[in-house]
Amino acid sequence: MERPAWAPHGIDLSVPSVSRMYDYYLGGSHNFEADRVAARKVLDAFPGLPKIVQANRAFMRRAVRHAISEGVTRFLDIGSGIPTFGNVHEVAREASPEARVVYVDNDPVAVAHSTAVVRDIEGVEIVAADFRDPAALLATEPVQHLLAPNRPVAVLLVALLHFMDDEDKPYERVAEFRDALPRGSMLVLSHASTDGGPATTEQGEEVSEVYRRGGSTFVMRSFEEIARFFEGYELVEPGLVALPDWRPEGPVDEEDPIVYSGFVGVGRTA
Ligand SMILES: C[S@@+](CC[C@H](N)C(=O)[O-])C[C@H]1O[C@@H](n2cnc3c(N)ncnc32)[C@H](O)[C@@H]1O
Repeated sequence: MERPAWAPHGIDLSVPSVSRMYDYYLGGSHNFEADRVAARKVLDAFPGLPKIVQANRAFMRRAVRHAISEGVTRFLDIGSGIPTFGNVHEVAREASPEARVVYVDNDPVAVAHSTAVVRDIEGVEIVAADFRDPAALLATEPVQHLLAPNRPVAVLLVALLHFMDDEDKPYERVAEFRDALPRGSMLVLSHASTDGGPATTEQGEEVSEVYRRGGSTFVMRSFEEIARFFEGYELVEPGLVALPDWRPEGPVDEEDPIVYSGFVGVGRTA
């Protein structure tokens, strides 16, 4: 198989990856045949997914602007993915030239492509690290740099935690990040759910099965289970809500049920 210049050596192009499948749903070009085959199976089970991922990105941008309007200008984006349109650093820098961003991903293609995009941008860095090892992630130089002034940080876990099963101890990891950050820090989170939305449990299982076959996990959690990630945080208004309902900046299409397949929220420590 032909290896494009942006694909690092040492990755197995025949195994689908979470970040490259997501890139495909978003209409990106950083994916391989194995990613597209797996992604199309997910789309067969859940054809509305491209709308959901767009709504997810739009929520992320609104949350970044909100953080900046509250004086939080430092962002730790864990599971940041392959850069696409309207990335965190672009939205943050537009709202505040002081904004600093550290992107973190454990996928080599996401890291390589992010490195190429942010190489010459001061105050924006990318780290190859794993959410499941907060101590190692927090000890990396760019993250230490981000935390050095002891100012609040917004941690972004956007469309990441549904790739962690309970054995990955996601609740403990989220708490470790919370406890390592200065008071007044924020948690920005989005998570897939079959509660309340049009996605059925059967669709959820079909999607999980495709990811499982590719060696990844996909877990839909209930509203209550997602709310538990905010332990120790105060949820800012309007609380934990469906993707389009979090501080919409324009009219919300209530007629379109597809984008109601996940919950999002922003919390802040007192
Ligand atoms: C669905 S994408 C979300 C990208 C971006 N946050 C967004 O919402 O547009 C999930 C990303 O999390 C990354 N990821 C999965 N498990 C991870 C882990 N244990 N540590 C760090 N990143 C991880 C994947 O490589 C992928 O890039």
